[in-house]
Amino acid sequence: MISQLHADGTLRHLLTLVGLERRLVEGLLERAQSYLRKPGSAPARNDSLSGLTVANLFSEPSTRTRASFELAAKRLGAQVINLDLHLSSRAKGESMLDTVYTLAAMSIDVFVVRDAEPNVPQFVADNVGPRISVLSAGEAHISHPTQGLLDALTVMRHKQRLDDRVITIVGDVRHSRVARSAVQAFTLLGAKELRLVAPAELMPDASEFAGCQRFENFDQALAGTDAVMMLRIQKERMAETDIPDAAAYFARFGLSAARLKRARTDAIVMHPGPMNRGVEIAADVADGPQSVIREQVTNGVAIRMAVLEAVGRGILLARQSQ
Ligand code: NCD
Repeated sequence: MISQLHADGTLRHLLTLVGLERRLVEGLLERAQSYLRKPGSAPARNDSLSGLTVANLFSEPSTRTRASFELAAKRLGAQVINLDLHLSSRAKGESMLDTVYTLAAMSIDVFVVRDAEPNVPQFVADNVGPRISVLSAGEAHISHPTQGLLDALTVMRHKQRLDDRVITIVGDVRHSRVARSAVQAFTLLGAKELRLVAPAELMPDASEFAGCQRFENFDQALAGTDAVMMLRIQKERMAETDIPDAAAYFARFGLSAARLKRARTDAIVMHPGPMNRGVEIAADVADGPQSVIREQVTNGVAIRMAVLEAVGRGILLARQSQ
């Protein structure tokens, strides 16, 4: 398995947050902060990726992640192509790797990969040439590293540090790559306490999420919470018969305005999107004063700029030394 890092410790690929040093993650968060602008002002731009080409290879639906990788790359001066692999030749049996080799022959420098199957981003990284970077944009239920980073950035912008903070993650934790990467980011940054809330059948196995407190009672878990992250039920990763009834689910695990009062009064409300209003979150909470859901989207562009810039630097340096 190829390493995510160059020999000098800088980022070559971003496939998972597991194993990354705190310093590297903090560096990415700081760089992302520098790309944030006041609402209403022009977005940050520079030419740091000028001459590079980024390909978004998505074989699962995506709105936010794909748009934000595209905007991030363009705002750094890269060219971008988007391939929806449902519609492309992959559907005709061409393998992901053939797609990658075909595009690499057109001088693609960075592949952004989302796939429902485990290991696809790593597999692509293992097989691309030496001057190509691979970024995961979501790997099955396993990992969504840029989402974990943007969630960490969002909490830190509101709560400054994580070491005296309680973060509660609620819903379909079992099938959630968002929860896995968020917990990895929050843990790396020293969060005081991480709580998981889910019905038994959506709680991950005991072998995972070591160090998190587990709750079946949402109200209990909210006491003392600084940030509450709601998750969508991942129907696409479940058998039809296992999908819970929406009304019954909302009654126990949905975030209503009344329930939110049990958290700290300054608690923030997060959701990676897409939301199902009335299933995991009430519309008035999603749009309410404690919601930072749209900030998460804004922060996602900044995080993807920081990550693209980090891997792009290595590619451009290698090009110069040729
Ligand atoms: C998430 C994903 O695709 O994993 N969305 C996202 O990237 N913002 C969460 C989800 O689909 O529920």
